[in-house]
Amino acid sequence: MITTGQKIAIQRTDASRLPSTDLDNIKFGRVFSDHMFVMDYVDGAWQKPRITPFADMRMSPAALVLHYSQTIFEGLKAYRTEDGGVSLFRPKDNIARMNRSAHRMCMPTIPEDLFLEALTTLVDVDRAWIPDGDGAALYIRPFMFASDEYIGVKPSDTYRFIIFTCPVRGYYSEPVRVKIETTYSRAFPGGTGEAKCGGNYAGGLYPAKMGQDAGYHQLIWTDGLTHQYIEESGTMNVFFNVDGKLITPALDGTILRGVTRDSIIRIAKDEGFEVEERKVSVEEIVEAARAGKLISAFGAGTAATIAHIASIAHGDEVFELAEISERRISERIGTVLDGIRRGKEADKFGWLVRV
Ligand code: COI
Repeated sequence: MITTGQKIAIQRTDASRLPSTDLDNIKFGRVFSDHMFVMDYVDGAWQKPRITPFADMRMSPAALVLHYSQTIFEGLKAYRTEDGGVSLFRPKDNIARMNRSAHRMCMPTIPEDLFLEALTTLVDVDRAWIPDGDGAALYIRPFMFASDEYIGVKPSDTYRFIIFTCPVRGYYSEPVRVKIETTYSRAFPGGTGEAKCGGNYAGGLYPAKMGQDAGYHQLIWTDGLTHQYIEESGTMNVFFNVDGKLITPALDGTILRGVTRDSIIRIAKDEGFEVEERKVSVEEIVEAARAGKLISAFGAGTAATIAHIASIAHGDEVFELAEISERRISERIGTVLDGIRRGKEADKFGWLVRV
């Protein structure tokens, strides 16, 4: 049984860290707002939804998550809008994705109305933490982990769900250099590639480090079976502008169902650009780059938003991509996306939820 309609108890901090925080100079993911939302899944129901001061917590060294990675997370953002308000961007899509991840990882789902209320209440409590300006937002991190004290391998009976927030500015400070990865894999058919679970990211650390040691910011992952098809880039979905057409790998169960990815596709189509979601082979992208038809490429994610790709390496070849003046499609989509988020453009897709 799942409990809904519970009132969220709020305990405010009496020692805000905001006065000693410089919101103009923040590193991504290093600064945390004053409060967090917490709720526990015990005896088959979500219990005691509450907002408390952001603080360390106690857990057993035997907590299942620490051993077998039964944990999932989300990332979404709240923005200051032109009219002085605050909006969440597509929170219902993140809620739906988190519940899909929960299902895949044998974890309890979270009632959508309670999840949304937790998000809006938490952001409201810490609204003074939302930075203003280009690229600025409140990054929101909901996550859930298995808390049973047990070292046998099984789905936990108890879970903790937490949401905390971080004021952020840009994720990447410059266009990224990427390498097409054809040795290591992020996901496989039938695996957990589509779920936003911690293990997917842990498994990517070593190949990413190898890439970073060789001078690349990120990898472009290829399919785990043949390494012939492009999947995603690091922690982002990936798009290519080939000869004026926007191409992105189709969702096939191994690729993260990006909310930013979907927003870009919908805006691009609405702006009259041609978009293709399909299998994208490495060979096709390399051939396009060799022929000078790969006009630009970019990663898309909540944290990074649109991260332009400066160069793509494949084997011994490195393809340098267009300078800013040639990023017409992605620049236009980025402007519309940012305009909607900040209330400068009409919310024609119904994506914003006011706080
Ligand atoms: C996001 O874009 O929100 C992500 O989840 C990427 C994160 C690993 C920084």
